[in-house]
Order: sequence, then C-alpha cells, then structure tokens
Amino acid sequence: LITLGIILGSTRPGRVSEQVAPWVTSRTDLLPDVQAELLDLAAIGLPFLDEAEHPSTQNYAHERTRSWSRRVDALDAVLLVTPEYNSSFPAPLKNALDYLSAEWRRKPVGMVGYGMTSAGTRAVASLTPVVVALGMVPIGAVQLPLRERLRSGVLLPTDSDDQALDGLLSDLLEMTLLLRRSPTPVP
Ligand SMILES: Cc1cc2nc3c(=O)[nH]c(=O)nc-3n(C[C@H](O)[C@H](O)[C@H](O)COP(=O)(O)O)c2cc1C
Repeated sequence: LITLGIILGSTRPGRVSEQVAPWVTSRTDLLPDVQAELLDLAAIGLPFLDEAEHPSTQNYAHERTRSWSRRVDALDAVLLVTPEYNSSFPAPLKNALDYLSAEWRRKPVGMVGYGMTSAGTRAVASLTPVVVALGMVPIGAVQLPLRERLRSGVLLPTDSDDQALDGLLSDLLEMTLLLRRSPTPVP
C-alpha cells in the first residue's frame, strides 16, 4: 500500500482547490494500491515559521510542528495541488514546506497546477526548484486552465485532464516503488 499525501496549497475562502481536491481523489480512488490522505493547509493552520532551530535538527518546539512532521513523515509520495498567485505558488505552501526537512527528502512529488492566464504553469515552474532543494524527487505536473475549465464557478475537468492526471499518478507510483526498493543510502 502506498500512502499518497495530497497537499492543498490554497487556504483562501471560496478556493477552487476545494473542487480540485475531489477531482484528484476521484482518480486516486481508482488505484487499489493507493491510500490518499488529504492535507489541507487551511485546516492544519500552521503560523508563519516560528521554530527557532533549523528543521534539519528536528528539534521542534511546538506540538503542531511535531504533528505536521509526523503526518508528512508517514507519506510515501506527495501530490502538491497549487494555484498560481502572481506568477508563483502561494505563500502558505512555501511556509508548510519550509517547516520540515528530512521528512520531505527522497519523497517523489507530483504537482497539479491551476490558474487563469497561465494555467498554473508558472506556479509549477517556481515550485520545482523548491522541492528539489528539499531533496524531493519531482516526477511531473498537470495543469488545469481555469479559464476553460470553470463554468459559472464549477470546475469541469475534461477526459484529457483525467488522462494527464492518471499518467502522472502512474509515474508517481512507479517512482515510489523504485525508491522503496533501493538499498540503504551510501554512507
Ligand atoms: C492573489 C492572486 C493572484 C493571482 N495571480 C495569478 C497569476 O499570476 N496567474 C494566473 O494564471 N492566475 C492568477 N490568479 C488566479 C488564480 O489562479 C485563481 O483565482 C485560482 O482560482 C486560485 O486558486 P484558489 O481558488 O484555489 O485559491 C491569482 C489569484 C489570486 C487570488
């Protein structure tokens, strides 16, 4: 069984991510070996990074940080659902990533980007070096162009969106199994 964490990067009221998440889980539900866990940053409610020690020490002062650490540590793979804000990804997502270090390391990560004019492409492009800096293994991304997919505020993914997401999930799971099989790290 593979535990896939689906992290919602948007925290604002009325966010489209509340519609992106059920679309994503409707596809992960089709995969028998996958247990999806939704990690909603709005509900988790991390403040701006307030830990004194560098996360690599795992010397966390706050129980909420330890709880976030345990939740991320338990994941085998990660799917970051990110809107595009001002040519990048939202600050709460960066904050949630910055909180931890070893917990992210060597985890395969896929991205679902969405946005208006640029369909989330710049959110994904700016998020990629961040996940690389954390030692994650970026697998790929799918994009949802909201101008075409939102009708009266309702998200309507197409068959080709389903196919793109299924392909990404398949690649993500393949890499998760490959990493799982790898031997202990070289000292
Ligand atoms: C502060 C802000 C900045 C935005 N900047 C961009 C942008 O640079 N490019 C883009 O394609 N869409 C941009 N948008 C549109 C968002 O991608 C769109 O509103 C999307 O629904 C936001 O995701 P959310 O509803 O889950 O928060 C912006 C939206 C907000 C609120």
